Parts: sequence; structure tokens; C-alpha cells
Amino acid sequence: METRTIQIFDTTLRDGEQTPGVSLQTEEKVEIALALAKLKVDVIEAGFPVASPGDFEAVSQIAARVKGPSIAGLARANEKDIETAYKAVKKADRPRIHTFIATSDIHLEHKLKMTRPQLLERAEQAVRYAKSLVNDVEFSAEDASRSDWKFLCQVYERAIAAGATVINVPDTVGYTTPAEFGALITHIRTHVPNIDKAIISVHCHDDLGMAVANSLAAVTAGAGQVECTINGLGERAGNASLEEVVMALNTRHEYYRAITNVNSQQIYRTSRLVSTLTGIAVPPNKAVVGDNAFAHESGIHQHGVLNNPLTYEIMSPESVGISRNAIVLGKHSGRHAFEERLKHLGYEIDTETVNTLFAKFKDLADRKKMVFDKDIEALMVEKAAVRPE
Ligand code: KIV
Ligand code: ZN
Repeated sequence: METRTIQIFDTTLRDGEQTPGVSLQTEEKVEIALALAKLKVDVIEAGFPVASPGDFEAVSQIAARVKGPSIAGLARANEKDIETAYKAVKKADRPRIHTFIATSDIHLEHKLKMTRPQLLERAEQAVRYAKSLVNDVEFSAEDASRSDWKFLCQVYERAIAAGATVINVPDTVGYTTPAEFGALITHIRTHVPNIDKAIISVHCHDDLGMAVANSLAAVTAGAGQVECTINGLGERAGNASLEEVVMALNTRHEYYRAITNVNSQQIYRTSRLVSTLTGIAVPPNKAVVGDNAFAHESGIHQHGVLNNPLTYEIMSPESVGISRNAIVLGKHSGRHAFEERLKHLGYEIDTETVNTLFAKFKDLADRKKMVFDKDIEALMVEKAAVRPE
């Protein structure tokens, strides 16, 4: 079996912004989208344009200014939402409209108040209308994992016939399990006519802590796109975390026979940027990007790692953009050493900015005995300095 490239669809700016307490300004969203483009995600879901004028503006700005990834706008399955999403994403080089409607009986009965035949009609009409505006149309069956499998396949069949290029299978409430979700993806792959005309995508929430495991089980079963967020942000317990999905595929690509286009060395700084701008701290024991992810506390482990890092590290800190060079500077370090360190980290900054940062660094060095590269990166994020390509 050949190695597949899994598309990474980042929804930090849409589902991630639905994290309780998070609200980003347009320029902050653009800054995150620029970082996501450097990270080389394939698709950025920039927002839900009909939700508010602010969301519309942010999606439009990102579509016009952020080059590289496809830019998607979310829309419910109705003309107004779809038209608004189109107006917001149309300036992108590769615009995508992502339209969705729920397919589970509980949503049909208690939220949409629609019958299954009515829903089939609506889904088809929505995709057809979106397709008349853009080439790339993603269709999501909200609450897919709690929907009747036969009906779900009928919905996807109609969406593909109407022109959907991606069919998304959300585990909206984080209810499924890896074995069950893998079986659902296999069922869709083998029961939906013309399934090869669309990419199968998955969108997993983390209510039972299985979002990443469910996403990876879906990849094994043939999914070609994974939707995820930086630091696993999102509704309630969040979405599948991008850094975990990507590093699982990187580290175990022979097992999964799959890779991504993501530049993993940008992961750490993107995580820090999102944490700073959203105000949501990364737990120290968080996989891949937590402060302890590469810290070795016990003497036995330290000894092993000093002899050969592979003894206790399945991936290197450098591979996610964390310098192994732990202690870099302290309160006795001078301006020159500080400037050299910034250059080593890839920053080219004017003298005035270096002076401001140096003062902040001295403050920090007074409070903390050791200043690490990641502390300097954090100072840079605060300063929102621009790193050259
Ligand atoms: O969780 C969900 O079902 C969603 C859809 C809009 C894709 O976020
Ligand atoms: Zn979601």
C-alpha cells in the first residue's frame, strides 16, 4: 500500500474560537492564519461569516491576505449562509464553502424539525447552490456518528451527486470510539456510490478524550482529511489537537502509511502564539507542546537521554521547533549575547526593538533563574515580531 498524504484542515479560527471565553479580534485572527500558512496546513477554516459582521470581516481579510492554504467559510445549509460565506471567501486563491446540516434523528426531531426526505432535499440543494459559486464544496453531516448509517450514506450520496468535493463525518459530541468510528468510515467508503469523487474527512470532538484516537482510526480506515485545532481548542472539551494528529502521523508514518504536508518545526511557535492570543494556557503535560513534553525528570531517564535521546524520546524536540539547547541566558547575560540568541532563533529585528526586548528579558531573568529559548519565543510572540521566511 502506498503512503498517502492526509489533508490537514485547521479549524482553530472557527471551532477553536467556540472555546468558552475565547474571542479574537480580526488582526489576531489574521496573525494566526499567517502562522497556519507557515505551518503549511492544507485548509484554514477562517470562520462562520454569517455569525457576525466581525466574523465576516475576519474571513474576508484572511481570504485576501493569507496565501497558500485553501480558505474555508462555514455555512448552514441555507442560501443566506452560503451566499455570505461565498462573499467572505471569494478573494482567496482557493476558496472553499463548508456547508453543514445535522443528520441524527435527535437533531432532526428536536432541532431541525424536519423529516429524513426533507433533509435529503435540503442537503442536496445546499451543496448544489454552493457549487454554483465555488468549485470546492465541503459537506458535513453534523452528528454523523449518532446518525443511522444507511440514512447517512444516502445523504452523502446526494451531496456527492450535487458536487461536494469533501464529505465530512463529524463526531460532533465526542461520542464515538476508535473501533466504531473506523468501522463507520469503512462503511461509508464501501456503501456510498461515487465515493471516490470526494475526500472523506473527519471532525472529532474530545468529550471522552478520544478525538485524536478516533481521527487516527478514521485515517486507518481510509479518511483523507482530518479536521483539528491548535492546542485542541474547540467547543466544550475541544477538537482533535493538530499537533498530536500530525506528530502521530509523522512518528508512526510506517504504521499509518500516511504523512501530512505540515512543517512540524512550526508547531511549537504556532501553539504558543495561539495560547497567547486566546489566553488559554497549554497544560504542562500536554502531548507534543506542553512544557513537560520533552522534560526528563528521573536520573535514569536523564542518563539514557544524554547517551542517546532515542532511549526515552520517540520524537525530537527540534522536530516540533523546540530547541534542545535548554539554558540559554541568565541575568548576567549581556545585550550582545541576547541579540545573538535572537539571530540564532531566526529573528532579524531593528535596534530599538532589541532594546525594548532586552529590558523585558532582564526583568524575566531577574524573576526566573534560567531563560530558555521558549521564553524568548514567548517575548517575541508578545511583541508580535515578524520572523523572516
Ligand atoms: O462539530 C461539528 O459537527 C461541527 C460541524 C459544523 C462540522 O463543528
Ligand atoms: Zn465541531
